[in-house]
Amino acid sequence: MRPNTRSVSALCLAVITLVCGACASGSGSDAGFTYFVRPDRASTVYRQGVVASDHPVASRAGAQMLELGGNAVDAAVATSFALSVVRPYSCGIGGGGFMVIHLTDDPTTDVAGDSINICIDYRERAPQAMGPSWFEDRPDADSRLSGHAVAIPGTVAGLLYALETYGTLGRQQVMQPAIDAARDGFEADPHFASALNDLLEESGYLEREDGTVTLRPVERGIDPQRRANAAHLFWRFGPESNRDRYRPVEVGDTLTNIEQARVLEQIAADGKDGFYRGPIARRLVDAVRDAGGPLTMEDLASYRPVESDALLGSFEARDSEYTLIGMPLPSSGGITIVQTLGILTEYAKQMRAHVGTSALEAQTPTDPAYIHALAECLKHAFANRARWLADPDFEPVPVEELLAREWFETGADRLHPDHAFETEYYGLSSIGSTNAALSLLEDSGTSHLSVVDQWGNAVACTETINLVFGSRVLPVGLGFCLNNEIDDFTTRSSEPNAFGLRQSDANLPEPGKRPLSSMSPTIVLDGQGRVFAVAGASGGPRIITGTLQAVLNTLLFDDDAWTAVARPRFHHQWLPDTLRFEPGYLDAHPVLQSELTERGHELGTIPEVGVVQIIRRVEGGWQAASDPRKGGEPAGR
Ligand code: GLY
Repeated sequence: MRPNTRSVSALCLAVITLVCGACASGSGSDAGFTYFVRPDRASTVYRQGVVASDHPVASRAGAQMLELGGNAVDAAVATSFALSVVRPYSCGIGGGGFMVIHLTDDPTTDVAGDSINICIDYRERAPQAMGPSWFEDRPDADSRLSGHAVAIPGTVAGLLYALETYGTLGRQQVMQPAIDAARDGFEADPHFASALNDLLEESGYLEREDGTVTLRPVERGIDPQRRANAAHLFWRFGPESNRDRYRPVEVGDTLTNIEQARVLEQIAADGKDGFYRGPIARRLVDAVRDAGGPLTMEDLASYRPVESDALLGSFEARDSEYTLIGMPLPSSGGITIVQTLGILTEYAKQMRAHVGTSALEAQTPTDPAYIHALAECLKHAFANRARWLADPDFEPVPVEELLAREWFETGADRLHPDHAFETEYYGLSSIGSTNAALSLLEDSGTSHLSVVDQWGNAVACTETINLVFGSRVLPVGLGFCLNNEIDDFTTRSSEPNAFGLRQSDANLPEPGKRPLSSMSPTIVLDGQGRVFAVAGASGGPRIITGTLQAVLNTLLFDDDAWTAVARPRFHHQWLPDTLRFEPGYLDAHPVLQSELTERGHELGTIPEVGVVQIIRRVEGGWQAASDPRKGGEPAGR
């Protein structure tokens, strides 16, 4: 479609159509439309604090710290170490992450009630040897499945920094639940069993029977390297009873990880140096070098987390003003969410001024006008992500311009309620226009946790090893996978990464540089400056769209925590230029299909749009929900 600036009369006509379209779609009639059965605990109000993570054992580890009188940071650190054991294919001590903290009392001042927002960045960094042309002559898979894929892990340094600077409990205390889970074992849940069995199948160990999910051992034709990697992982993460034969992991199997227990004990005893120097560091480097990568002991010893200023945004919903606290670069999440909301706000203002209503007055998140408006704002923000965002320590990034009211107004002015535009139209300026049929990888290689405590402090923390089981490089005897975060760089100029994300050359690797991330830990404050919601997700670029929709469900539609995460979601990341819905969404709302197609959207499906953990304020305390897409569960009281 031809880019143009809409005229007021065209706008009025379009909005009238749009409002009628919303009526025709039966707005207000889809309450409770989710794929999932609402659990009893969905209505629980937690008065003293709560943790929502994607595994019940990890949530309980954090809740235990709250019981001991610890604060939200203690709970977040305990939860994260436990996730390293119970979700070893998603996150853990071989990866990195971002932590956004809101403390109601700034510990660095004597002024009571002086709140503070803190962002701790423990994103992985490229090894010193890795320059912009590192992948030019290497096989494509090297940035995902080899030692070249491994960036310097940041999780141990970041968690210990958070604990020492803003926590109140001891290292041993907060790490004990993780050590116990690794030593005493935990039950394989459906998500774990499926991740491990998929790996065994992918590596040629087990084969699915036709038409059923039964797996049987395969004895022939297996690439020895893939087989070795699968065996390596399986023996460490599979059930004890299974170590002399191969069978699928079954739900309910007890899994232990004595090797990771030993590593965690070493860190509990010696702190950061127990991981970044000495024998553990040596094994880690050896594993990466055996797999061809350039990591050195010096790379590990030099790793430091950084504290950065929070990224702030605002949003008005149901006559209340909210403040968003997000992660700054190298997270693209904060900037993309704040931009999307900024453009959406200006767009709604313009429509209200012209016709007295806007997509933000939608009664439900399934209103086609709302979905169109949100998708169009996302396309602008994702186009800017591709064009401009990178590690600001290495590249100039126009953050002020991207977050300026002028750009929000321009972005809004360039949207039309009745139609979408060609891809080149979006963003401050854009790169590339290919709508290649990219397969968007599912991402179980990330994990989010949300915490609030009895004092009203909050932590939103997202961690990752990038793709499921990361690089598949597993240091001998250490019981954890190393990340493949290097693939979040632009490894080859103008080629998309595993998530189909196009990124500019500003995101090429350089020694010590952090790859651009989509992780979006987010805290929302209400008009009184109190924490209203804590949210975040896993899911590659769908982290951004998943987090944003769950938060908007609470702000615009006053969803309870469960409904906010369980509702079906959609995703648009500018390129590929397809508006994708979770399965069943379009079938349940046939009018969406016609209304959105008429507006020029190419529609598609996507298995899931992120896995969100959310906590929201309610009368008398908090509601919490772990996304049923992965099987987590909140814990608190
Ligand atoms: N590795 C996923 C992300 O950081 O966006």
